[in-house]
Amino acid sequence: MRLIIRDDPKAVAYYTANYVRQRINEFKPTRKRPFVLGLPTGSTPVEVYWHLVDYYKRGEVSFRHVITFSMDEYVGLPRSHPESYCAFMHRHLYDHINLRPENVHMLDGNADDLAAECQRYEDKIKEVGGIELFLGGIGPDGHIAFNEPGSSLESVTRVKTLAYETVLANARFFGGDVNKVPKLALTVGVGTVRAAREVLLIITGAHKAVALAKCIEEGVNHMWTVSVVQLHPSAMIVCDEDATLELHVKTVRYFKSIEQVQEQLIGRQHIGLKGSISKLASSDPADSFGSGVLPPAAATASKDSNTSDASQSSADEDASDADDDDDDVSSQPFSDDEDRNGDTATAATPAASTPSPANILADSSSDINGVRVDDSLTPAAPVGNPF
Ligand code: GLP
Repeated sequence: MRLIIRDDPKAVAYYTANYVRQRINEFKPTRKRPFVLGLPTGSTPVEVYWHLVDYYKRGEVSFRHVITFSMDEYVGLPRSHPESYCAFMHRHLYDHINLRPENVHMLDGNADDLAAECQRYEDKIKEVGGIELFLGGIGPDGHIAFNEPGSSLESVTRVKTLAYETVLANARFFGGDVNKVPKLALTVGVGTVRAAREVLLIITGAHKAVALAKCIEEGVNHMWTVSVVQLHPSAMIVCDEDATLELHVKTVRYFKSIEQVQEQLIGRQHIGLKGSISKLASSDPADSFGSGVLPPAAATASKDSNTSDASQSSADEDASDADDDDDDVSSQPFSDDEDRNGDTATAATPAASTPSPANILADSSSDINGVRVDDSLTPAAPVGNPF
């Protein structure tokens, strides 16, 4: 498991959105081979969705061949209710990007037969080939989706009674009135999340620090369902400094050092998106093991190859989907001053005072694989052998 620590929630959202964008573009989805994305609700991912919408509008990512599955939904709340998870997802993401309506999947908390609805969801996930990337948040009690403490780690999509702590936490969306918060929900299971080929969790805030510590430093435990990511072969948690408050200093340094060692010794150009070492340094002395910094020419080549990836993705879409490329943003031209890799964040864009996705984009320092890295982390922490 990878733990990526960023300064604050904005940096976490920026990193995460860049990651999702890059994973989709690297995957080169087509109609026959769509990218299947699991998505959460909650306040934490809202800014991630702003960025994704922004990338879509800039032509840096297309959702034309992306299939989405939302994680959960309240039972008995009309879909039109502003706090239904259906309304939430439309408001923050689905209404602003080029997802095909038939590719958007949500649980129906008003279905006559809730058990059948849950089974339908599991069947649909299998039918499309499983989830490629499950993006998730957690509750302060460590739940993923609505898998409250005590949920089976093998659980699949089902009806779940919400813990009182969760009802209290979510009362803020219902005018602070716990009586208005639905007490039942449909949720994908812990097993459903585990079955995804990759899991990315975003955890921010001191109120989630205990849950993060339980997840990282203690064993897999059904009372902290997020801890199941320890068993996942490809899991990453992106958290902010506040969320690390209950971790041992040694743990924080350990995970920071892993990232730093990869950057500085192995070289960022050799690290795959999922954190694996994709290749070792070339014989080019300018690109030697230990430099960790791309020479200008290599940097250009790397950017060019990413650009051609994006073009290839677009070509694949065109070839497999010639009849419906009318609104395919990936085939839209990029403006002259935009980087085709979507690295506009690194451009010297003047920051404005009002918070907005554009301002957040302007607030970057450097990129690894298109993902921002805080400059403050650049010098290696004084730790022993991180391996
Ligand atoms: C709800 C959702 C979870 C989400 C959690 C965190 O409980 N069911 O999927 O992770 O809220 O919400 P927030 O990001 O607002 O803390």
